[in-house]
Amino acid sequence: MKYSAITGWGKCLPPAVLTNADLATFIDTDDEWISSRTGMKERRIAHVEASDLAHVAAVRALAAANRDAKDLDLIIFGSCTGDNIVPNSASRVQHLLGADSVAAMDLNTACTSGLYALSVASAMIKAGSAKRVLVIGAEKTSSVLDWVNRNVAVLFGDGAAALVVEASDTQQGLLGESLGCYAEARDSLFIQNYGGAFTNNPFCQATSWDFDGQDIFKRAVAGMVGASNQVLDDMGLSVADIDLVVPHQANSRIIDAVGRKLGVPTDRVFVNVERYGNMSAATVLVALVEAIEQGYVRAFSKILLPAFGAGLTWNSHLVQWGDRITPLAISDIELPPCDETALELIAPYLTQQRRQLQSQIESVQQADLR
Ligand code: ACO
Repeated sequence: MKYSAITGWGKCLPPAVLTNADLATFIDTDDEWISSRTGMKERRIAHVEASDLAHVAAVRALAAANRDAKDLDLIIFGSCTGDNIVPNSASRVQHLLGADSVAAMDLNTACTSGLYALSVASAMIKAGSAKRVLVIGAEKTSSVLDWVNRNVAVLFGDGAAALVVEASDTQQGLLGESLGCYAEARDSLFIQNYGGAFTNNPFCQATSWDFDGQDIFKRAVAGMVGASNQVLDDMGLSVADIDLVVPHQANSRIIDAVGRKLGVPTDRVFVNVERYGNMSAATVLVALVEAIEQGYVRAFSKILLPAFGAGLTWNSHLVQWGDRITPLAISDIELPPCDETALELIAPYLTQQRRQLQSQIESVQQADLR
């Protein structure tokens, strides 16, 4: 039987940092509320597109695997904030990498996209239709965020990570997964004015979010715990066999609840939500890369990767690491320099959304007067 080994890994975080204090300069919030309710202290804001972040992460991952981009059979770009719908963002990454003719697809299951991409890569490798796949989780959430809505503006950030996944005869890589979706709750997170149903609509305006945080919170915990128990059952394993849990980083309280319900000690749960917020599809892959860099992943570690996203999609992936936890090479690639602050980068979105909100308030007031 063929396995799908993870042989390379890389991340890319844009340099501009948006702190809780920065957020408090334009919405009614404060560091105490954000830290205590979410665990977040800061997040990154991109000065480039999601495909540029993905490209840098991909070059770093390829270096870690000591592979050339031309050796790839397929690039999967997991994201819900790709640069364009047509053409897709995977094709831009292919172009930037110079990986001529390599198959390139986008995959969107919101925050779980990076892990669903890992499932597709692994299944194609096991079926024999690909030997080497680049799996990407990349997001520029700042470009679609509802910056005037304090319920969501504090929660998200930008970033990317990539994995090189290759056919192997030894037992390692993605061993099993449980995937699903609570579609009855798809309206709990709905981005208005974003996508084909809106484009060219004469009434199309800036994005705004319908967001039921408490419903998402409960379903996120249920989905991640249920999927984790399912994949453990399927593999004939128990929580005691798991060396590390690298969960989706949407809220430290969600992470705590999942750890508690699964019965995993906190020192076996990797957390970096305080530095990046929720980077959607990039979140778990960036956390996995940092867990490797910081020594939490050891040779042959069994790692559980539970996540959830809009849809509401959920999953838990069981990965067994191989024998190598150090990169074979390190690339010196960097993003182009950024000369704007995070607040300056989001100012155009904020201005447009404030204008829209103001005109909505005025329309309601005029209707009341009539
Ligand atoms: N600053 C200050 N106060 C705030 C803020 C803020 N940023 N946001 C909300 N509040 C207020 C609310 O208005 C409310 O005030 P009220 O009591 O006067 O009405 C109060 O805080 C409590 O609000 P709750 O919604 O009850 O707060 P809760 O403890 O549930 O936390 C949160 C809200 C953080 C959103 C939580 O529900 C959560 O994390 N949910 C999961 C969301 C998530 O991760 N979504 C990602 C989806 S993934 C994807 O695919 C994109």
